[in-house]
Amino acid sequence: MHYKKWKYSKFLSNKNYKFNRDNVLKYLPSSMLNDSYKTISKWKGYSSTPLLSLSKLKQSLELNNIFYKDESKRFHLKSFKALGGAYAVEKISKRNKKITVSSATAGNHGRSVAWGAQRLGLKCKIFVSQYVSKSRIQHIKDLGADVIIVKGKYDDSLRACKKLSKKNNWKIIQDVSTKNYKFIPQLTMAGYSIMIKEISSQTKKYITHIFLQAGVGGMAAGIVAGVAKYFKRIPKFIIVEPDKASCVFESIKSSKIKKIHIKKESLMGGMSCGEVSLVPWKILKKSVGYCISLPDNNVARTMKLLANASFSSKKIIAGENSAAGLISLIAACGDKKVKNSLKLDSNSNVLLIGCEGDTDIEMYQKLINK
Ligand SMILES: Cc1ncc(COP(=O)(O)O)c(C=O)c1O
Repeated sequence: MHYKKWKYSKFLSNKNYKFNRDNVLKYLPSSMLNDSYKTISKWKGYSSTPLLSLSKLKQSLELNNIFYKDESKRFHLKSFKALGGAYAVEKISKRNKKITVSSATAGNHGRSVAWGAQRLGLKCKIFVSQYVSKSRIQHIKDLGADVIIVKGKYDDSLRACKKLSKKNNWKIIQDVSTKNYKFIPQLTMAGYSIMIKEISSQTKKYITHIFLQAGVGGMAAGIVAGVAKYFKRIPKFIIVEPDKASCVFESIKSSKIKKIHIKKESLMGGMSCGEVSLVPWKILKKSVGYCISLPDNNVARTMKLLANASFSSKKIIAGENSAAGLISLIAACGDKKVKNSLKLDSNSNVLLIGCEGDTDIEMYQKLINK
């Protein structure tokens, strides 16, 4: 297969790169990572998600291995987000049934919070913007939460969530950290780190590269912390973002948090964020070696190729955000300069995070049938 059409928008090397395990684990302590695994692995229905091999693609790209962590099989929520919000709800509520939890969401995080509340018999209020799809809203309602639709964008739904939560004494479970709100987002990231704990016993191969999709950077930071704790060798980390919302890219470029204005929402909605979260920033700013930004134009094609087993022996259900890691890898291998800077060669064992399956079924069907 020819991959000439797979192109990245921008590529950046981090001039401040200096990975340090202790520094990473200062912001997401080892004890938190231990607790998240101990807690989540006891949940009913828990099992490691599959670590698949993209055996056909690795041959075309002449790499040693391409692993794909398939989070479409994460409980019945179909995304890694199931590990974060639901875990934070359990820790914060301390099983006190009188608590009402709340959150603002673009979809997957709110679903996780709603599920966490349902598991513990708590009341739950989820705030979404008018742009969140009907299918995503229905999934949240199906988990017993009340959904409040707010006019405007995500930030408006967050503002409404904060206002009503303060008034009604609801406990906000948000995945974005700010100066005075760190602990709950840290819990969500600790939850995400168990993807790496699982991988550490799923393969004996040393991973050389990890492509990390980033919205506000929580998933990326959780994975970097997991690597600092569980892996012997540190791979190269490459942040992947839509070019319409490359807030980590711009922050790494200017060595400080840069807020960007999103003119048009990306198809990769989970990553359509304008500002990196504070704790992830502290972790990512020196740990990430490279950033890549992508246009939307290959998302549907890549999802379809995953679905019809063009890259692997098995069919893979991958949502819009999952396609991004794969597009970046293919685009990087197709560009000599980038391939050389990343040292992608026949010794490389690359890890891609298949962060979600068909979390929005209608959208998934529309895209793969395009
Ligand atoms: C499926 C999926 N992938 C990736 C991300 C990005 O995660 P983060 O915002 O923690 O960087 C999100 C965020 O919602 C998501 O839903």
